[in-house]
Amino acid sequence: MSKITAAITAVGGYVPEYVLTNKILETMVETNDEWITSRTGIKERRILKEDGKGTSYLAIKAAEDLIQKKGLDPKEIDLVIVCTATPDMKAAATAAYTATQIGAVNAFSYDLEAACSSFLFGMSTATAYIEAGRYKKILLIGADKNSSFINYKDRATCIIFGDGAGAVLFEPNEEGLGLQDELLRSNGEGRDFLQATYGGSSYPINKDTFNEGKHYVFQDGKTVFKNAVFNMADVAEKIMKRNDLTNDDIAWLAAHQANKRIIDATANRIELEEDKVMMNIQRYGNTTSATLPLLLFDYESQLKKGDKIIFAAFGGGFTWGSIYLKWAYNS
Ligand SMILES: CC(C)(COP(=O)(O)OP(=O)(O)OC[C@H]1O[C@@H](n2cnc3c(N)ncnc32)[C@H](O)[C@@H]1OP(=O)(O)O)[C@@H](O)C(=O)NCCC(=O)NCCS
Repeated sequence: MSKITAAITAVGGYVPEYVLTNKILETMVETNDEWITSRTGIKERRILKEDGKGTSYLAIKAAEDLIQKKGLDPKEIDLVIVCTATPDMKAAATAAYTATQIGAVNAFSYDLEAACSSFLFGMSTATAYIEAGRYKKILLIGADKNSSFINYKDRATCIIFGDGAGAVLFEPNEEGLGLQDELLRSNGEGRDFLQATYGGSSYPINKDTFNEGKHYVFQDGKTVFKNAVFNMADVAEKIMKRNDLTNDDIAWLAAHQANKRIIDATANRIELEEDKVMMNIQRYGNTTSATLPLLLFDYESQLKKGDKIIFAAFGGGFTWGSIYLKWAYNS
């Protein structure tokens, strides 16, 4: 009997309507369009503005888009995983609310958090269940409302992040398509360089820390940049080598959209031409857990059955990794 592999069989996505352009940011902090574009590649990002709407709002919209496009009966979904660094609230899984709202009444659900690597690690989790034969339909969603913990007075972070969500369906495949290999890593020494210090269990928020804005995300951009460039390129190169893949074999690089220069450095290391590098950072900025599924959402019509895709991500923690996947359908 041939081994069951786990393949992506549908994609959905959603970004909020409000567009925060570099021009608008120029009126909020001391920055300019030229600096942001040349240093990051970002021109605009989407922000979920409405009060009371959290990450689940984005996740539900992306999931509904997938369900409608695929013609999927949500009652058939076995498991809903919401990958997110910005859950709606503590002690109540965003995934549980999302699953119920989309009608996935026969599914169980939970959140998965590994900062900007959440979705990549979620791909590993979802495929492992399917390869083991435990479940047949897993909805994997990457969703983040980064605007909920960004300080819009801090020019080092507010220019980078945006809100959004993407969703994929994983199902068993008998043609050997889907996930082929993974190389996932983490190093806790990196957490000093990218974190929202207050508001978690180590340091709950109090009036003073709130007034000082210590619940917002902070990053040492240069250190994060260096580690992201080195590690993303390293794992992408290693996974290609151990699967005997050359740049000619690869149809696409789907890299976490943190900074165009980081993506370009990864593509250069594996000697991949520009037209094989998925890129939408200019429109959405860094949407944390949503970058990889939003790439698939934007590029779905160009993907062909059998295309070999290298995924790569890097995030807070530090966390990083690469996945090699064969695309399973023509849309
Ligand atoms: C944040 C980032 C774009 C900054 O770019 P950089 O080239 O490292 O810039 P630096 O932080 O060294 O700052 C260079 C100068 O620009 C200034 N600067 C910083 N942000 C600025 C902004 N938004 N507009 C204008 N100037 C800015 C700095 O104050 C500094 O000025 P100085 O030389 O007078 O001190 C870059 O470090 C980065 O992308 N890091 C990774 C971030 C990331 O991906 N995080 C998520 C990980 S998943």
